[in-house]
Amino acid sequence: MIRAIKGTRDIFSPEVEKWQLAERNAREICALYGYTEIRTPIFEATELFARGIGEITDIVTKQMYTFQDGDDRITLRPENTAPVVRAFVENGMDNEPTITKLYYIGPMFRRERPQKGRYRQFSQFGIEVLGTENPAVDAEVIELLMRFIGSTQVLEYRLELNSVGCSIDRPRYTAKLQELLRPQKEKMCADCQDRIERNPLRVLDCKVEADQPIIDALPAIDEFLEEGCKIHFAAVQKYLAMSNITYTRNKRLVRGLDYYTRTAFEVIAGGLGSQNAVAGGGRYDKLVEELGGKPTTGIGFALGLDRLILAMPESAREPGGVKVFIVAMSDAAFDYAYEKIQAPLRQNGIGCEVDYQRRSVKAAMRQADKRGVDWTILVGEDEMKDNAATLKNMKGGEQQRVSINELVEKLK
Ligand code: HAM
Repeated sequence: MIRAIKGTRDIFSPEVEKWQLAERNAREICALYGYTEIRTPIFEATELFARGIGEITDIVTKQMYTFQDGDDRITLRPENTAPVVRAFVENGMDNEPTITKLYYIGPMFRRERPQKGRYRQFSQFGIEVLGTENPAVDAEVIELLMRFIGSTQVLEYRLELNSVGCSIDRPRYTAKLQELLRPQKEKMCADCQDRIERNPLRVLDCKVEADQPIIDALPAIDEFLEEGCKIHFAAVQKYLAMSNITYTRNKRLVRGLDYYTRTAFEVIAGGLGSQNAVAGGGRYDKLVEELGGKPTTGIGFALGLDRLILAMPESAREPGGVKVFIVAMSDAAFDYAYEKIQAPLRQNGIGCEVDYQRRSVKAAMRQADKRGVDWTILVGEDEMKDNAATLKNMKGGEQQRVSINELVEKLK
């Protein structure tokens, strides 16, 4: 047997109906806030991610699916912010005087160790706003995210918020972190020892128990934020309060991608185990420039749909299309049902299926039950004689004889 590749999986009914509900809500909510869809390629030049996400991030150093294609180095997209910015620049959207609001839904690829909520192919729903620094937009992006999660009936989730500063204050902060951490380096985990030199901010993200006392004693970025960043962050919080959005301030929230400036946030959901971050995002005010565009600020989020689906209750799903199951009790009755019942029901928009397997009536009723249909229609010789059908309500169980001319009306 040929199996699916490790870290990938097949999604089908009944799980797929949860996906359909989530995707439909995502599209509806994006329309409500004025976002239009963008579809970018699944693979891009490797350099886009190396430059966009950062050469020394986990994603770029360890997790990318990269291959040689003739003279080109190509990578399956591990995320979609860099591709969206590439598309924004390439298509000259950075010349427009208006702001650009985009959303996307699609698969991403990261070579991580698979576990519950962590896959090598996973899907994200994300949005990106380009062209404004207005802190109200930061609040709008977060509000859209929270509204979307709420719409999927997930009950337990919380927002964590931070500011990671900008190119003025961050070097001062990271220098301070290095100064404080270097003397204690030997006491820390191997990853942190490396981070202290290469990417000190990421030390704050360390989960190793023994390192926590050292990390807890470090100063928060607040003390280092320059005036502009402070004012911006205060305004983001003001707008969040106006939208009645509650959050916890997590001063250690730094995110795993290097492009972030100022606002950074994550949403954590209950019941997911260790992979409990359902969404993450923030500002990236320098990324467009870094990728060759005109200076343009940006902000967005991406939500992991696989994780969201795990957190959604069973009841949250797109309803099935089939409402009626038709059972024939003889060969002649089957032809009668096929021609005189099934066709008109479908023509009138009533989803139905006729029992092709033709085992026993009992087996057919079990099948109807499993499908979760509202009605079964039974046809035998008697019904045929009367140009009628027996209609059975699957919830209440009551049965009635209905003329086939009245069936559509009755079922509507
Ligand atoms: P990220 O935090 O790397 O951010 O990913 C966002 C979300 O994708 C995570 O919170 C998680 O739910 C989901 N995710 C990530 N890796 C996996 C995986 N291996 N399996 C399942 N789900 C996963 C970004 O990707 C940024 N582009 C977000 C952003 C948009 N920032 C600004 N705009």
